[in-house]
Amino acid sequence: MHLPHLRKLIEGIPKAELHLHIEGSFEPELMFEIARRNNISLKYDSISSLKDAYRFGNLQEFLDIYYEGAQVLIHEQDFYDLTWAYLIKVHSQNVVHVEIFFDPQTHTDRGIEFEVVLMGIYKALEKGKQELNISFRLIMSYLRHLSEEAAFKTLNMSVPFKQYIDGVGLDSSELGNPPAKFVSVFKASAKHGYKLVAHAGEEGPVDYIRDALDTLKVERIDHGNRCLDDGTLIDRLLYKSIPLTLCPLSNVALKVIERLEDHPIEKMLDLGILASIHSDDPAYFGGYMNENYYETARALNLNKGQLMQLAINAFEASWLSKASKAKHIDRVKHYFDTYNV
Ligand code: ADE
Ligand code: ZN
Repeated sequence: MHLPHLRKLIEGIPKAELHLHIEGSFEPELMFEIARRNNISLKYDSISSLKDAYRFGNLQEFLDIYYEGAQVLIHEQDFYDLTWAYLIKVHSQNVVHVEIFFDPQTHTDRGIEFEVVLMGIYKALEKGKQELNISFRLIMSYLRHLSEEAAFKTLNMSVPFKQYIDGVGLDSSELGNPPAKFVSVFKASAKHGYKLVAHAGEEGPVDYIRDALDTLKVERIDHGNRCLDDGTLIDRLLYKSIPLTLCPLSNVALKVIERLEDHPIEKMLDLGILASIHSDDPAYFGGYMNENYYETARALNLNKGQLMQLAINAFEASWLSKASKAKHIDRVKHYFDTYNV
């Protein structure tokens, strides 16, 4: 397909984003604006010098900058503005459903109230639902470089607000922080009615994917790149329809893979794995949903059928009701059936 046609095809696909850290959507322009109004000075003196720092050798180098940027978020309005900016952006890319992460500990450890963080994000999501017709789910992520005890504190803080939160996740530095560290807090989270997901097999080994399923009992894996290392695990992902939320531009930016041409997603699709494309931290990795789809399709030479499958998989993997999934999937199919190049 001609590249301008490919871009146009991708732009029009109705999309679901299931792997997005709201703090990772913090664009430098907004970061500087919020820093100014909160009287906080950033380590970088200009937007361009901040952007120059966005060259990462691995996940940890990214996380150091990502946590630093989040320090300027203080008031409910800041979290609201951050979330609203993300929703406006993805609305322009035809994203119609989002399931987003937030990292409470990044903020509560600086003395920001849990409620301030949550309500800022939630109110913007509610407005997005009313005004942009974007449905949503919200996932609270535990930081795996911190202790399980700290995760328990976060769980306890969340309980009075659990009607606003759909699930819990596990993110931050993967290597050396295996799923086994968080078994009790995941079990307790499930008892409170939270759905469970975890980052696994991004930088960490395939064992972390197995352990996230076996010990944490998660229903969806974030990333999961390394699953192809284990044939038995592949069979299990297929048999149980366990979704993987992949983030191709993130994987290149963080050197999980060297080039997009090496991305495992095409192989996953060939095998029938419920794999889908998402943006992770779009302000840092050079692209939102459309750019992730486009660059991946270009690098792997994906065809229309594969692109349709990716879009369908995301709705299939979502936490929407059965009826809503079916409605969105019908729209995706109709879009591809009637699209003429
Ligand atoms: N937090 C934000 N982005 C992340 C990623 N790609 N992996 C782990 N933790 C994260
Ligand atoms: Zn992530």
